Amino acid sequence: MKNIQQSWAEPYKIKMVELLKMTTPAQRKTAMRNAGFNTFLLKSEDVYIDLLTDSGTSAMSDRQWAGMMLGDEAYAGSRNFYHLEEVVKEIYGYKYLIPTHQGRGAENILSKILIKKGDIIPGNMYFTTTRLHQELAGGKFEDIIIDEAHDPTNEFPFKGNVNLNKLEALIKKHGANKIPYVSIATSVNMAGGQPISIKNLKELRLLTRKNGIRIIHDMTRVAENAYFIQQKEKGYLHKTIAEIVKEICSLTDGATMSAKKDALVNIGGFLAVNDWDVFEEARNLVVVYEGLHTYGGLAGRDMEAMAIGIGESVSDEHIHARVGQVIYLGEKMAGYGVPIVKPIGGHGIFVDAKKFLPHIPQDMYPAQTLASEIYLDSGVRTMERGIVSSGRKANGENYYPKLELVRFTIPRRVYTQAHMDVIAESAARVYERRKSIRGLKMIYEPKYLRFFQARFERL
Ligand code: F0G
Repeated sequence: MKNIQQSWAEPYKIKMVELLKMTTPAQRKTAMRNAGFNTFLLKSEDVYIDLLTDSGTSAMSDRQWAGMMLGDEAYAGSRNFYHLEEVVKEIYGYKYLIPTHQGRGAENILSKILIKKGDIIPGNMYFTTTRLHQELAGGKFEDIIIDEAHDPTNEFPFKGNVNLNKLEALIKKHGANKIPYVSIATSVNMAGGQPISIKNLKELRLLTRKNGIRIIHDMTRVAENAYFIQQKEKGYLHKTIAEIVKEICSLTDGATMSAKKDALVNIGGFLAVNDWDVFEEARNLVVVYEGLHTYGGLAGRDMEAMAIGIGESVSDEHIHARVGQVIYLGEKMAGYGVPIVKPIGGHGIFVDAKKFLPHIPQDMYPAQTLASEIYLDSGVRTMERGIVSSGRKANGENYYPKLELVRFTIPRRVYTQAHMDVIAESAARVYERRKSIRGLKMIYEPKYLRFFQARFERL
C-alpha cells in the first residue's frame, strides 16, 4: 500500500459545460498583435484556458444559482442583504457590513475615511488597487513584509509575514499618529499567494494595540491562507478551515473583501468593520460611490450568491481540492524545470520571468514577454506581475520590483486535471525555446494601473 499516491479530488461533479474555441497558431499570432502583446486586451473567445485571474471567474454551485432566483430586488432593505450580513457576522466575525460592487469599491471608501494627507500605511506587500486608493487618499504605502517574500526561491512557509522590526522603525520615524492602520493581506497576491501565520498576526496585534493602530485585513483569499495555516503551522492540523478563518479575522479590526475570489461569485465585495464610528461614515460614503448601504452596487441576487458562496468557501473539502489542484500544476511545471515561485501559493503558479528569460533586462518586460509567448504557444492566457503591474511612483519614476513574475491563476471549480497537464506542457515547450525569445517595447502607457491597457511591440 505504501507506494500508492494519495490524490486530491473535487468534492463535486459537473452538471453543465461551456464549450471553448480552439485556435490555430496563426489565429493566435493575429490576436496577440491586435492586443498589443497585452493579455488583458485579448478577446476571451480567443483564449483556450483562461488563467488571467481567479477573480470573478469561478464556477458557482447549483445552490448559488438557486439562490440567484431568490433575489429580492428592492432598492432598500433587500432580504438578501440581511442574509449576507448574518453570514459575514457568523463566518468572519466582523460586526458591521457595507456591501460594495467589488473589492476596490471597499478600498476606496475605507481609504477615504481613515487616511489623511501625509499618512503612512504599512502593509505586507502592495496590491495594485489597494495601494492606488491609499495614494489617492493622500497616503504613502510602506512595505513591511519579511525579506524572504521578495526571494522567489526561498521556501519559508509563511512568506506573507510582517517584519515587526520594519513596522517598529516606521512607528519610531513617523509616530503612531501618522499610521492610521496596518494593511494586512491574507494569501499575499503579489508575492505568489503566500500566507501569513497566526503567530505573526498575534505578534502584530500586540504591537499595533500597544501603539493604538488598527489592522485592516484584505481578506480576499482568507480561506486559502487558512489552508496553509492548517497544513503548516504548529497546532492547527486538527482545526477546521472555518475555525482558522474566524481566528484570523478576530485578530484584525476590519476588512475589505473582493468576493470574486474566495467567496465564489462572479461579482461582489464588501467592507466590514468592528468600529461603529467607521461604519457610520462608511454607510454614508457608500451612497456616493456605490449605492445605498443595503446593496452597495449589487443586485439582491448577487448578495444571495455571495452569502451562499462564503459558506461553501470555508468547507475543508472545497479548499483541499482547490489548493490541491494548484499544487498539482506547480509540481508538474517544476518537474519540467520551469522556474516557479516557491512555496507554491494558494491561487496560482507564479513563474519567475527573470530566471526564465535572464537575457531580457527588466526594462524590456520579461514577464510581459513570457505571458505573450505562452498564449502564442497554446492559447493559455496568463498575466504579468512585474514592472508593468508595479507602475510608477508619485514622482514619475518606475518602480523596479524585485519580483518579475507571470501568474498562472487558477479559477475555482472550473478546469480539470487534463487542463493542468496542457498548461504545464505549454510552459515547458516555451522554456525549451527560451533563448530565442526577444523582449518588448511599451508603445502606449495609461496613467493609472497601466498593466490593464498598456500596448507593446516586439523588439
Ligand atoms: N485585494 C487583492 C489581494 C486582490 O487580489 C484584488 C483583486 C483586490 C484587492 C481588488 O479587488 O478586483 O474586486 O476590485 N485582484 C484581482 C486579481 C484583480 O486578478 O488578482 P477587486
